[in-house]
Formats: sequence, C-alpha cells, structure tokens
Amino acid sequence: MKTAGKHIVITGGTSGIGLELLRQLQANNEVTIIARQSCKLDKVRNTYDRIRIHEVDLANLKQVEELAAAMAAAGRKIDILINNAAVQYTPQFLDDDFQIETIRREIDTNFTSVCILTFHLLPSLLQSAPSIILNVNSGLAIAPKTDSAIYCATKSALNAFSQSLAYQLEGTNVCVKQAFLPLVDTEMTRGRGAGKMPAKEAAAKIVQGLDSPAAVIDIGKVKLLRTVNRLSPGLARKIMKAG
Ligand SMILES: NC(=O)c1ccc[n+]([C@@H]2O[C@H](COP(=O)([O-])OP(=O)(O)OC[C@H]3O[C@@H](n4cnc5c(N)ncnc54)[C@H](OP(=O)(O)O)[C@@H]3O)[C@@H](O)[C@H]2O)c1
Repeated sequence: MKTAGKHIVITGGTSGIGLELLRQLQANNEVTIIARQSCKLDKVRNTYDRIRIHEVDLANLKQVEELAAAMAAAGRKIDILINNAAVQYTPQFLDDDFQIETIRREIDTNFTSVCILTFHLLPSLLQSAPSIILNVNSGLAIAPKTDSAIYCATKSALNAFSQSLAYQLEGTNVCVKQAFLPLVDTEMTRGRGAGKMPAKEAAAKIVQGLDSPAAVIDIGKVKLLRTVNRLSPGLARKIMKAG
C-alpha cells in the first residue's frame, strides 16, 4: 500500500533526508513542515506551493510549545508525524572549541522537542485511523561513536522513548515506528565519512517503512550492525567507536 491522501507533518523538511521525504511524499499527500532557517524555508515555499510551513527553532522549547499548542488547537487531524530534524555537533569534551551551549541545543532539538510535539499532537493523531509517529533514528543509538557524545545520547534516548511510547499507545490507533539510518550524504555529514547512502535512497526506505507493518525500520548497513550487536556487542562497540 502506498502512503496517499494523508496529512503528514515533517520536522526539518528543508534539507537532507527531510527534504527528500517532502519531495517523495508531497505529490500524493498534504504535507506540513517545521524548520528553522527562513532562507531554506523560502526555497521550499517557492518550489512546493501546496506545502504548509512553520518556522520554528526546535531548540527553543517555548516556540515549540506555542507551535504545537496552536497546531493542536487548529483541530486538523494528523495522520503521520515524522520527527526528523536533528543537529550533530562534533567537537569532543576535551577540545578547545567545545561549546557548553551546544549541549542544551542538541538535547532540545533532537529529543525534548520530539517529546513536546508528540504530547501536543497526539490528540490530532488519535483522530485518524490508523496513524503513525515515525522517529528518525541512527545506528549510533545501537552503539555510540567517540565524536558527538551528546548526539549519540539523544538518539539512545529517542530509542527508549519510542519503545516506551509504543507500549503506552498499545490499543490505540497510533503506531510508533523508528527508522535507523546508516551514514547518509547530507549537510549533517558534509566533509566526513565514506560510503554514504544518498539521501534520496534513505528517504525512499523510510517511505517504504511507513507502508510496512514493521515498527523498526533498519536501513542499509544498520541491518548488519544490528546482527553484529546481537552476536557480539563488544565487536559492535569497537566498530562504531571510530565512527
Ligand atoms: N546524515 C546522516 O548520516 C544520518 C545518519 C543517521 C541518522 N540521521 C538522522 O536523520 C535526520 C535528518 O538528518 P539529515 O542528515 O538530513 O540532516 P540535515 O541535512 O542537517 O537536515 C536537518 C534538518 O533539520 C532541521 N533542523 C535542524 N535544527 C533545527 C532546529 N533547531 N529547529 C528546526 N529545524 C531544525 C534543519 O533545518 P534548518 O537548517 O532550517 O535548521 C534541516 O531541515 C536526523 O534525525 C539525523 O539525526 C542522519
């Protein structure tokens, strides 16, 4: 079954995987995106005139609360919420350029805002049958790397949150899914890593996952990582430590 005729809310739909999700889903669905930088939002607005856009900094939790409450009050049903936006800061704690402010920004963008949006948009998701919350996760939630300790921790937290939320929503019409991605070629990974999956392919796998009954969507090399981690968690940690 193809996802069609749905109202889909995507956070971070202005670049990378989120933009590809928008491209692949907008023709057959009504899409709302939430992102931060107005220049990128303008580009999206000029390309896709049917898209509804909210300009919000997800690291600003007051803004997130206000937007989520306003969306809930508008009373429109939401069929699919894709929590995709995230940031990844790479300086390590011992580096001279490590900035303490990035700790809060990374946690609030990648995790706290997801919880707040979920809380406020649940009533709209409960109006649709069936509906989906899809949290975009990473192989780093399975085994962390050395760089980006906070990023890895937020993805681990997102994994636990998604699983626990799924328990809470058992017996409702809302299904909680996670897509676990390998290294993907986007702004987030510019200038680092090799063998990256194109963002278009990653988004296509996520879209396929929306249409499947699976709650866990392992993409590309994450499938292998999951197997290695099951057979030898120590080996998985060793492989991922170097990033
Ligand atoms: N790329 C990878 O290798 C990889 C691997 C595993 C998982 N992932 C996950 O995939 C998802 C998408 O990542 P990506 O690689 O596509 O990243 P990206 O190209 O950097 O895009 C991130 C998106 O999130 C938005 N965003 C970031 N901070 C925001 C904020 N404070 N408020 C509002 N919007 C914000 C950005 O919009 P603005 O620019 O307007 O802020 C942009 O649209 C993330 O959850 C990431 O953790 C990525």
